[in-house]
Amino acid sequence: MSFKGRDILTTEDLSKDDILEIMKVTEGMEKIFKEKHISDLLSDKMVAVVFLEPSTRTRLSFETAVHRLGARPITIADARSSSAQKGESLADTARTIEGYVDCIVIRQPVKGGAKIAADAVNVPVINGGDGAGQHPTQALLDLYTIKKEKGRLDSLKVAMVGDLKFGRTVHSLSYALAPFNPEYIYCAPEELQIPEGILSGMKQRSIKYQLSSDINDALDADILYMTRIQKERFNNIEDYEKLKGSYVLTRGLVNKGRKGITIMHPLPRVNEIAADVDDLPNAAYFRQAHNGVYLRMALLAMVLGRA
Ligand code: CP
Repeated sequence: MSFKGRDILTTEDLSKDDILEIMKVTEGMEKIFKEKHISDLLSDKMVAVVFLEPSTRTRLSFETAVHRLGARPITIADARSSSAQKGESLADTARTIEGYVDCIVIRQPVKGGAKIAADAVNVPVINGGDGAGQHPTQALLDLYTIKKEKGRLDSLKVAMVGDLKFGRTVHSLSYALAPFNPEYIYCAPEELQIPEGILSGMKQRSIKYQLSSDINDALDADILYMTRIQKERFNNIEDYEKLKGSYVLTRGLVNKGRKGITIMHPLPRVNEIAADVDDLPNAAYFRQAHNGVYLRMALLAMVLGRA
């Protein structure tokens, strides 16, 4: 199925063939990036990069992708500088921006908000993170990273550690990798364990998983995917204070883990990976962040009908 005009809202919407196609186009974009740096593939296009929640990687890698493909971005980088602050609805914001651009990338705090925007407009909408819902472009760059680091996507044991309740990256990753026969270890404090809705999605797909609160269980995996306990998602600061230091991955713990275990993290980290892990060859998290540009170049080119 062509991607031209498609919204990218969740990874549940993507088939195995879709994902393999995205991986193939991303490889091509990495070559363009490394050999030519700038392409004119989208030189007649404009893209709105609308971020109503904080971001470093997603917003800047999307903006980089837009420039690298010769398109032009318009940007909202701070909710306080948009008319959302005056009470404008997401649908009205999207309808307005639709008249200016060929594609909208949006991050905002409401779960399901990217779909509200997409339903209101005819240009493709890419979800850059919808509250505690999904972060599909992160999961796709995670898969691209896994493929580069491990040489395959199939039959991997993946441990996800940290805030699995509010962590939209692990929700999206669970679905994105599901067509590739994974086994999951969900490791979190009881209060932040993976939502029932995701577990029932995994059951429907016959994905093997185990639940744990002990990081030692997560060390027996091919991929150790650490996440931040997200202060901004808690209603009550005392609850955050109680849980914030639940897991700290140290070099000593990595050395106890499965041989060749790959350490990933969507970033930003606070203190959940100690600095002494960073120079291990299997610490992939900064390579992971860099892969985001190639993946986002691919998605923009695909939804705009040029790849
Ligand atoms: N991984 C991620 O979404 O990072 P940012 O919040 O910095 O975009």
